[in-house]
Amino acid sequence: MYVVKIGGSVYENIEKIVSDLPKNNRLIIVHGGAKIVTDIAERLGIKQKFVVSPSGIKSRYTDWKTMEIFQMVIAGKINKDIVRFLVKNGRKAIGLCGIDNSLITGIRKKKLIIVENNRKKLIEGGYTGKIKNIDIDFLRLLVNQGIIPVIGSVALSEEYEPLNINADTLASFIASKIGCEEIIFLTDVDGVLDKDRKMIPVIHTSEIQNMNIGFGMKRKLLEISRFRIPKAYIYNGLRPRPFSDPVGTVIIYDGN
Ligand SMILES: Nc1ncnc2c1ncn2[C@@H]1O[C@H](COP(=O)(O)OP(=O)(O)O)[C@@H](O)[C@H]1O
Ligand SMILES: [Mg+2]
Repeated sequence: MYVVKIGGSVYENIEKIVSDLPKNNRLIIVHGGAKIVTDIAERLGIKQKFVVSPSGIKSRYTDWKTMEIFQMVIAGKINKDIVRFLVKNGRKAIGLCGIDNSLITGIRKKKLIIVENNRKKLIEGGYTGKIKNIDIDFLRLLVNQGIIPVIGSVALSEEYEPLNINADTLASFIASKIGCEEIIFLTDVDGVLDKDRKMIPVIHTSEIQNMNIGFGMKRKLLEISRFRIPKAYIYNGLRPRPFSDPVGTVIIYDGN
């Protein structure tokens, strides 16, 4: 069994990605789509706020208006597009997010520490959360029936609110809990790049901590090693045949 994580950054190539998917049906697809959420929110005239954490990481602030769009875009538009192309290719697939059958429960971050004008500030947390639990038995049931679960990165909070969760974390969490040997991340670059923007073909997890890598990519590497995924691939999902003619990096877990 394996997990494929499709980043919002490669959504424009989704039809080609789906038609090139390996024929092995024992897989789970996880997707995010924050970039498309930002795009649609702006088209609807809802200004997106970004905040900076004390460690310097910039992220979107998910207020309620944004959360409404997040749910529509991730659980609706993107999720159903992926399922649509899967069934078009003769595959059995079902689209889900964490709300469906309480598949993914999460804990809302009630407060957030941010940095503004060089000063730390405590603000309302908005609708982002941490994963609490995933109903792995239910996913296993679907996979054993030959149905591909397609899961959007929305969780259900303890107060039954929708939550924005990180899709890289979700994919790694599922892979580790269900016992996958492999996970494939599709993103918009040719794998992990060095300072001269040359692709690094192989990385061992013990090297990750000391590597100087920008945030979107670092997050994937940290989750792969935190969840001890035996083998992960980071491939360019914008290529014409992302799986059968792959370009990218292999990450091997070496116990650290
Ligand atoms: N050293 C690096 N190698 C590759 N990508 C990097 C690196 N540092 C930062 N990045 C960024 O990480 C991005 C991928 O993460 P992200 O934007 O979150 O996309 P996704 O939607 O796939 O999660 C790349 O587009 C790239 O700009
Ligand atoms: Mg990302």
